Amino acid sequence: MNIVVFTGAGISAESGIQTFRDTNGLWNNHSVEEVATPAGFKKNPELVLNFYNERRRDLLKVKPNNAHFALAELENKFDVHIITQNVDDLHERAGSTKVLHLHGELLKMRSTGDSSLILPITEDIKVGDKCPKGFQLRPHIVWFTEQVPNMGTAHEITESADIFIVVGTSLKVYPAATLLESVTFQKPIYFIDPNATKIDGIPNVKYIKKKASTGVTELVNKLMK
Ligand code: OAD
Repeated sequence: MNIVVFTGAGISAESGIQTFRDTNGLWNNHSVEEVATPAGFKKNPELVLNFYNERRRDLLKVKPNNAHFALAELENKFDVHIITQNVDDLHERAGSTKVLHLHGELLKMRSTGDSSLILPITEDIKVGDKCPKGFQLRPHIVWFTEQVPNMGTAHEITESADIFIVVGTSLKVYPAATLLESVTFQKPIYFIDPNATKIDGIPNVKYIKKKASTGVTELVNKLMK
């Protein structure tokens, strides 16, 4: 039995990581164009690097919550794939072994001159920090207007799902949100989010309007029985 879980910022909210579009979310206090686009990075690299440096520092202060741990526990009984829009490493720290990041990872950086040159980073990245080939380093994050390289793999994984679980996402960002269209007809879908709204055109969705720590734990307990 394959379980595929698609997560967004809401799963990490109770760990203390800010979401993007909730009240006080990151995109209420920062301009997407300025901090999360290639054009913004070209215009003001320091602002962009500092934005992600701050995110990285925040990430290193927090821990996975019960929702991350419950999903890791599912692996004791099922083949579990996590597809996440999150750039944190909280699924990995909780023990999930198959995690696909759609929008990159805060704890990695890459060369602006060679996108295959990806390196680990826990410190700040500064203007003037160069890769071994001499190019400026940037966060390993997918910015708006950039391709999402893992999207094809994510659709393939989704097609194999016997159960598809969506947690803590506004489903407002494309192409990530198109994943639901790849769930095989009549396979059950669970959507856990306190603000879950009806997903048009997708049948078989069970809406669980709860916070991730409660909703995911309850669902995992049910599936493990
Ligand atoms: P959003 O900020 O758009 O949505 C967060 C969702 O989490 C909302 O639906 C909330 O209702 C829900 N939520 C809040 N607290 C929760 C909790 N305790 N438990 C469960 N759900 C909770 O974040 P995403 O949908 O993840 O991309 O955003 C998608 C992408 O937009 C991000 O990956 C990022 C952003 O721009 C890039 O930066 C490329």
